[in-house]
Amino acid sequence: MTTFHDYLQQQREQHHLCPQLTATVQSIADACIRISEKVRLGALSGVLGEAGSGNIQGEDQKKLDVIANNLLIEALRRQSAVAGIASEEEDSFVATDENGRYLVLFDPLDGSSNIDVNISIGTIFSVLEKPSGSLNTESFLQKGSRQLAAGYVLYGPQTLLVITFKHGVDVFTLNQNGEFVLTQASPKVPGQTKEFAINMSNQRHWEAPVRQYVAELLAGETGVRGKNYNMRWVASMVAEVHRILMRGGVFLYPKDARDPSKPGKLRLMYEANPLSLVLQQAGGASCNAVEDMLSIEPAGLHQRVAVVLGSKEEVEYVRRLHG
Ligand code: AHG
Ligand code: MN
Ligand code: MN
Repeated sequence: MTTFHDYLQQQREQHHLCPQLTATVQSIADACIRISEKVRLGALSGVLGEAGSGNIQGEDQKKLDVIANNLLIEALRRQSAVAGIASEEEDSFVATDENGRYLVLFDPLDGSSNIDVNISIGTIFSVLEKPSGSLNTESFLQKGSRQLAAGYVLYGPQTLLVITFKHGVDVFTLNQNGEFVLTQASPKVPGQTKEFAINMSNQRHWEAPVRQYVAELLAGETGVRGKNYNMRWVASMVAEVHRILMRGGVFLYPKDARDPSKPGKLRLMYEANPLSLVLQQAGGASCNAVEDMLSIEPAGLHQRVAVVLGSKEEVEYVRRLHG
């Protein structure tokens, strides 16, 4: 049995990682165990329902968005390796330890619309090196390829932790003693798939290439793609990405015409980048329809981005349609 704690030590030795980096990731995992305990109990731990507040992105916060955010911030404030934090639920970055080497970005609770209906939700995280000099917003605006570690915790039928230090991806399951234990080493995203995920209710707002792509998938074996596709939409990106990691698939949250000021719904820094790093490290692909996700130069902490990720063949196909 390999606990997450033992695994971090092995990774440190094998890949010469800084002990402060693995300590940072351990703090994130510990906070997620506390979040998982609350998620499991639901109404019994008083975490369901609205918080009665909103975040900077104009979204209503659920109680669990706020609780998860606070648990992560508390844990990372105690971690001297962390210089600063950026969160979906915080307007601007939070400075923590001025001597810290790392920056942590997170979506504390992904899939908020699923909290109150007992459907899988998650936490997404990304770790960057703090550039030298004083901490400011620009310190965080690094492209995804510069992430040192990234991963997610999925609060589903099991609580799973998926992590990458850019040497592949590994999967851990939370056991009955509250420890993450390695349950799957190096899963690989199949290169081809017959499964897609997109919120079809936005179809009328999509741009032409995405309309064409989905029409081709829906045409099935008599269409140009020559095979029948199945569709899934959980509305928790963490759950969709985990399904793709386990059995392949393609996920799209494309740019649409609902709000011309927003190039997509999902956020680059703490949703698209960390999940893209995980999938790319497992042999999958990810882009914003025209450019590799991890090479996008960010312009803001809460920047939105179009997302196309999953099995390589499909992601490349979508990109060619945008050619
Ligand atoms: P969050 O709960 O952090 O705001 O993110 C929800 C995201 C993502 O998880 C999911 O893929 C998408 O929003 C669902 O959007 P729809 O409501 O359009 O289905
Ligand atoms: Mn989210
Ligand atoms: Mn969220």
